[in-house]
Amino acid sequence: MDHFQLRNGELYAEDVPLARIADEVGTPVYVYSRATFERHARVFVEALSGLPKKPHIAFAVKANPNLAVLSLLSREGLGADVVSGGEMARALAAGMPATDIVFSGVGKTHRELADALDAGIGQFNIESGEEGRELAEIAAARGVVADCALRVNPDVDAGTHDKISTGKADNKFGVPIGHAPQLFAKLSQLPGLNLRGLAVHIGSQLSELTPLETAFTKLGDMLATLREAGHAITHMDLGGGLGVPYRAGEQLPSPFEYGEMVKRVTAGWDVTLMFEPGRVIAGNAGVLLTRVIRVKRGLKHPFVIVDAAMNDLARPALYGAYHDFAAVAPSGERMLANIVGPICETGDTFATDRETDALVAGDLAIFRTAGAYGATMASSYNSRGFVAEVMVDGSQFATVADRIPPGDIADAERVPDFLKA
Ligand code: LLP
Repeated sequence: MDHFQLRNGELYAEDVPLARIADEVGTPVYVYSRATFERHARVFVEALSGLPKKPHIAFAVKANPNLAVLSLLSREGLGADVVSGGEMARALAAGMPATDIVFSGVGKTHRELADALDAGIGQFNIESGEEGRELAEIAAARGVVADCALRVNPDVDAGTHDKISTGKADNKFGVPIGHAPQLFAKLSQLPGLNLRGLAVHIGSQLSELTPLETAFTKLGDMLATLREAGHAITHMDLGGGLGVPYRAGEQLPSPFEYGEMVKRVTAGWDVTLMFEPGRVIAGNAGVLLTRVIRVKRGLKHPFVIVDAAMNDLARPALYGAYHDFAAVAPSGERMLANIVGPICETGDTFATDRETDALVAGDLAIFRTAGAYGATMASSYNSRGFVAEVMVDGSQFATVADRIPPGDIADAERVPDFLKA
């Protein structure tokens, strides 16, 4: 459920007409709903209530790193799952306690490991023996101990798009689950590390619970093996991955069904469970608001050319992803159209042969389910600048990320003297 609904024939974000935001901030612009973010966070927390130990829920910052978003999720009691120094800095700037931050990612640099240790973050999810040894050295040199979990690769097919699958044996993530006993034996000897658990994340936009259940079951078996070998395991990080509906009426497992499965599979584990949800919190809490530049006649269908492009919302171009598209003030008439942006490549296509509201030049429209992996994946391709972001709260709204005009990006560039000679 979200707060982007029609009222008297016009789309609103909570109590604000989207047309007002377009007038005041311009388009394209991402529009977020505070109430929707909070609702999704609360539903997820609620779905995991009743576990024997209070779980640690770390929002996957990559899904939406806007400071306003992180700040409101922090107030809901969520921590952060970060994958770079930049994401860590944002989580801290948004007021998240360092101890609530988990650092994931296969390529943490020496600098990032050191900075994260200095910041006192809660847990490192290490992805290789090499990384573990490097972290141990940095920690020992500082006289501190890094709490960490070993990310394992369970070799489970998540059944999602190849580019967002992470738990197959040939993916770059984690260590093969069978190597965990050997690595635990070695890494837990190192003075700078407190290796206290396992972590897993098999992919994103999962539409079924079975692959997750298979992965968690394998994790549970490995937990038992490690305990038998004498290791003290106190934390298990189950990652993120729960999918969200992108199409009206699409049925996906709910957070409650996920929570029930987790409780069943992890019964008796006697650990603090950790989670890294991203899309399920942010996806349907945002839309991309755009204006139709022109409707161009096509051979089969007209091309609705909107002022948003693949640089603003990359998912359709990158993954062939479907985003629902709707007029802000639908007339009731429908059309079959190709929906495209202005960028000079055919990949800049949001939808082909799409039945949609009839639109003419100047009309406003939205792409739904754009709150996750939307603005965060924007680029300035075709020198279009960076898209703005707005947060709505009841009848008020604020710009939470300024549009960065192409000129400001060019200001960071220069022609060196040797080219001028
Ligand atoms: N934890 C780790 C270690 C991850 O790699 C990810 C996502 C998450 C948590 C959060 O997963 P979620 O709950 O959001 O599914 N750009 C792609 C999605 C990439 C996901 C990468 N990792 C897209 O637009 O679909």
